[in-house]
Amino acid sequence: MSAISMAQQLGQRLGQCMFKKAGVSVKGKTVLCTGGAGGMGALWARHFGLDGAKVVIWDLHPALNDTVAQLKSEGIEAYGYKVNVTSEESIDEALKAMAEAHLEIDILLNNAGIVAGGAFEQVPMAKSAAVLDVNLKGVMLVTHALLPKMIERNEGALLFVSSASGFIGVPYMAAYTASKWGVIGFAESLRLEMQDRHQNIHVSVFCPSYVDTGLFKGAKAPLLTPLLTPEQAVDEGYKAFRAGEHVICTPAMVKVTPKLKALLPESWFDMVSAVFGVNRSMKDWTGR
Ligand SMILES: NC(=O)c1ccc[n+]([C@@H]2O[C@H](COP(=O)([O-])OP(=O)(O)OC[C@H]3O[C@@H](n4cnc5c(N)ncnc54)[C@H](O)[C@@H]3O)[C@@H](O)[C@H]2O)c1
Repeated sequence: MSAISMAQQLGQRLGQCMFKKAGVSVKGKTVLCTGGAGGMGALWARHFGLDGAKVVIWDLHPALNDTVAQLKSEGIEAYGYKVNVTSEESIDEALKAMAEAHLEIDILLNNAGIVAGGAFEQVPMAKSAAVLDVNLKGVMLVTHALLPKMIERNEGALLFVSSASGFIGVPYMAAYTASKWGVIGFAESLRLEMQDRHQNIHVSVFCPSYVDTGLFKGAKAPLLTPLLTPEQAVDEGYKAFRAGEHVICTPAMVKVTPKLKALLPESWFDMVSAVFGVNRSMKDWTGR
């Protein structure tokens, strides 16, 4: 590479860092929300829909039809497909049905997720494997299926749902934590790939701490990291996504965590985690 093209690239990158991030527009777009039959996914779908997007929900949960009906009753153009995000066959079937309905996805929200809590050796391996299947493999399968069309149209946005546990170890949910570390690495790698080749495709990752949806019932929120209502978490996440933020952390303590981890010696960081109650937070988990 010549010195001139290196200087050009450096200039371009500096420009990208220094100027305000471009926001993500929603009106008139079609948004796919995986795992949107309930919990935070349904709230994301509602935000997108109320801002003028068509909303497509993929989920396995029986509440899917009711959620779609509720969105329609609020004036939102909404569609629901029974899809298992861990199955390529199920994804392909839905995409075929969607093509017939002329639905092409502009914004993908990879939200579907499951948890397995407990001492790692006591959690059946099939459960831990299922967590990786839904939370990480499912995210890659869906993204792999939808990204080529976004690239073809030279426009799109990918929003990944990770977690505060994507930045640190959390005892008693080792497989979940591994899956969410994976999502952060996957999202960051794709963001850089898109920056290199397809600058009109935006990539964000959403990392909330504990949110009161029932998934983490019994878990104790750590100090300075209050349990969020689903509305609080999604309102904040949605605003930041629309504003073009790449890494969206809530509450504020989650933003500080990776910085503290990078600065402190391991034993000090472990002590902070213990004192703040992160290490005990999953001890009494009874969620789904
Ligand atoms: N609740 C929290 O405290 C919290 C914190 C951080 C991150 N998250 C993440 O946020 C996302 C949403 O969580 P939530 O709390 O709203 O949970 P939720 O259980 O209410 O929603 C998850 C949805 O994913 C769907 N789903 C599960 N497996 C699927 C599959 N194989 N195919 C299609 N759909 C599937 C479920 O049916 C459900 O509707 C998850 O990725 C979760 O890991 C949650």
